[in-house]
Amino acid sequence: MKTEVRIIDDIKGAEVYINRAASTIVNGGTVVFPTETVYGLGANALDEEAVKKIFVAKGRPQDNPLIVHVADKNIEYLVNDIPDVAKKLIDRFWPGPLTIILNKNDIIPEVTSAGLKSIGIRMPKDNIALELIKKSRTPIAAPSANISGRPSPTDVHRCVEDLEGRVDFIIGGINSNVGLESTIIDCTVNPPCVLRPGGVTLNMLREVDENIYVDSAIMKKPTEDFKPKAPGMKYRHYAPKAKVTIVEGDIEKSVEKINEIVQNYIEKGFQVGVMATEETRTFYKQGNIISLGSRNNIEEVAKNLFETLRKFDDYAVDYIISEGFDEDGIGLAIMNRLRKAAGFDIIKA
Ligand code: TXA
Ligand code: MG
Repeated sequence: MKTEVRIIDDIKGAEVYINRAASTIVNGGTVVFPTETVYGLGANALDEEAVKKIFVAKGRPQDNPLIVHVADKNIEYLVNDIPDVAKKLIDRFWPGPLTIILNKNDIIPEVTSAGLKSIGIRMPKDNIALELIKKSRTPIAAPSANISGRPSPTDVHRCVEDLEGRVDFIIGGINSNVGLESTIIDCTVNPPCVLRPGGVTLNMLREVDENIYVDSAIMKKPTEDFKPKAPGMKYRHYAPKAKVTIVEGDIEKSVEKINEIVQNYIEKGFQVGVMATEETRTFYKQGNIISLGSRNNIEEVAKNLFETLRKFDDYAVDYIISEGFDEDGIGLAIMNRLRKAAGFDIIKA
């Protein structure tokens, strides 16, 4: 398949390409586009054949439902009913990094929801994404634009790396500024339950309804018979090629422990990457050291996480050792993704 790749920074001057991308959607094709969380791999959410192409392009398991992206807060035509709390969440957080799960109606085909009666819906904040959806005149189903299992892409060049030749169109240029996938909140239950932490934090959600809580499964290692409410959360996710280990606990002790582990691997002839922070980077003497940013700017750490995992793949390291982070605010989402990337291989410092 020939992929049209258009690198653009802004909607200004790019109208002709956005129009072409929208025609691709209308004609049942697949388009990779930017969002403020991560890049998405989209197709017409209401067209069964088009949606099937997403699963093929990504190598995505069929039982993993897609998120439907809209450009308008009016979503009555897609769902059976919208509880008051969901209306409040939409008003407060859309456009933005919040996916709301509601009971779908028949307009949404079963392939899109992977057979579930519910559907996740999100209005992204990115201008190119919004223009693309508007011009396509249909909601766009889109998972993250990576080959299944790899870290989600926050940079268009990573989408090209994973998906050129597998999709019809790739459009984008600006890096995603949240850097982690959207928060998912299930509003088919009362009180609503967070199934995946993200840029809209628990404290922010609790300003709308103080009873909102986080599904306890998000920090647990999936087992054979474990069925998380967000089907996608059971897969090995966000994983670079190297084996990841997290050292959690007191930061000074963590640095010491990480240095010890790195030394050990290097003696055995392995290539090692260290995910450090601005505060600690100079304390590491060996290995490939990349700083995620400052611990005082946890949003920056979130934004850099997936790209850093992919950089270590470029360097072909065998092992990645990462520091841990507090679970406050977006820190919860960072630790959720890191622990999954590590397959829950965690060492206490
Ligand atoms: O930020 C994002 O959400 C990005 C951008 C592109 O919008 N998209 C994204 O999609 O992360 P994806 O497919 O990588 O993750 C979707 C997650 C999966 O874990 C899936 O199981 C869950 O959402 N999900 C989708 N529909 C669901 C439903 N009806 N009930 C429970 N979980 C659902
Ligand atoms: Mg994904």
